[in-house]
Amino acid sequence: MKIGIVGLGYVGLPLAVAFAEAEHEVVGLDADGRKVEALNEGRSYIEDIPEAALAALSGRLRATADVADLASCEAVVICVPTPLTGSREPDLTYLNESASALASVLQPGQLVVLESTTYPGTTRERLLPVLEESGMKAGRDFHLAFSPERIDPGRTDYTVRTTPKLVGGITPDCTERARELYSLVCEEVVVLSGPEPAELAKLLENIFRSVNIALVNELSQLCDRLGIDVWEVIDGAATKPFGFMRFDPGPGMGGHCLPVDPFYLAFKAREHDFYPEFIELAGKVNRAQPGYCVDRIARALNEAEKPVKGSRVLMLGVSYKPGVGDIRESPALEIVALLRELGAKVSYHDPFVPELSELGLSSVELEPGLAEADIAAIVTPHPGVDYATVVEAAPLTIDFRGVTREIESPSLVRL
Ligand SMILES: NC(=O)c1ccc[n+]([C@@H]2O[C@H](COP(=O)([O-])OP(=O)(O)OC[C@H]3O[C@@H](n4cnc5c(N)ncnc54)[C@H](O)[C@@H]3O)[C@@H](O)[C@H]2O)c1
Repeated sequence: MKIGIVGLGYVGLPLAVAFAEAEHEVVGLDADGRKVEALNEGRSYIEDIPEAALAALSGRLRATADVADLASCEAVVICVPTPLTGSREPDLTYLNESASALASVLQPGQLVVLESTTYPGTTRERLLPVLEESGMKAGRDFHLAFSPERIDPGRTDYTVRTTPKLVGGITPDCTERARELYSLVCEEVVVLSGPEPAELAKLLENIFRSVNIALVNELSQLCDRLGIDVWEVIDGAATKPFGFMRFDPGPGMGGHCLPVDPFYLAFKAREHDFYPEFIELAGKVNRAQPGYCVDRIARALNEAEKPVKGSRVLMLGVSYKPGVGDIRESPALEIVALLRELGAKVSYHDPFVPELSELGLSSVELEPGLAEADIAAIVTPHPGVDYATVVEAAPLTIDFRGVTREIESPSLVRL
């Protein structure tokens, strides 16, 4: 098949590579000319896609900035961002722009699938009318479906191939076309009755995580008051083989999905005069966590008879999760801002994030960084860092991720 992918980011590029690896011809459209150029020169900008994987595709993946190149594709999958506006409402600008461009070249018989995470109703109420501006009718002249992306950047045990894929089309024929498409690269395709349950299933998956992370974040604060080690509590509970699923507390929620997606559902719910309390409460608790972490840093410094003002804080890891360089919505950014408000001198070490240009910071080498710091804060534990050495080298260490559980030291505090 010839398949078009719109948006070659964390979602679109791995999908494009998966289709190309399965011997299909792939045309990737991206609005960012640097990504198009990089891919056509065989350079990858996503940790999960090594350049060797691009080289092995023998030219079956071609990137373009010209939407007209999608006209010859049998199927087009849209993987553009769905962020929030400044007032925390769904921002469908990227989706609208890509849909309008696609409508201008849409061909009879094409299948269009939306993968971007969004609220239930988007495919039918927002995408369909824009595509129908082509003069063609969805379900009759072209096919339209929703299939949520479930990729977890940095994860190697589940891939595009081995993670079951949900599909829901606006007609049974649309669903069948989408099922056939994903069967080319996924071992299991699960058919739902339409796009809306598929859209909502994706939001449920992410909200489930958000709510459970909020629960353990709140528990970490209670444990602090009670003088109980939250990690020991969770390790203990996690020995139950049924009815319990482990979630760990941390510095807050980051990434393009968990802090954003609940607002998509809350927005839709409000349209129906419904106020989902779990979602809102989880968001509130998780958003307060960076502030709580700053409070813990201040307390740790205070114990060492140092004021926050003028103290040098070295943050270890600033991306939102280990093993990736994505800083979108990373709680580390807020921790930096709050510490600076208090007058701390903040530096960071993160091999995945060489620059934080908006904050005017660059990653420092670990050893000299530790030698200069008053406190090291483990915010995102990237692989390859030896935390026993960190605890030894830093005058004080605070661990927000529980990676020092095996280490005992008077200069170490944990969430
Ligand atoms: N990153 C994840 O872990 C993840 C997981 C599951 C679902 N999702 C969802 O998938 C969607 C995409 O997320 P992502 O992380 O891949 O985003 P991303 O920012 O990494 O990639 C999106 C790409 O789309 C491009 N783009 C924007 N507008 C365009 C247009 N009009 N035409 C062509 N290209 C355009 C951007 O340049 C960018 O390269 C979002 O809805 C997100 O919520 C993300």
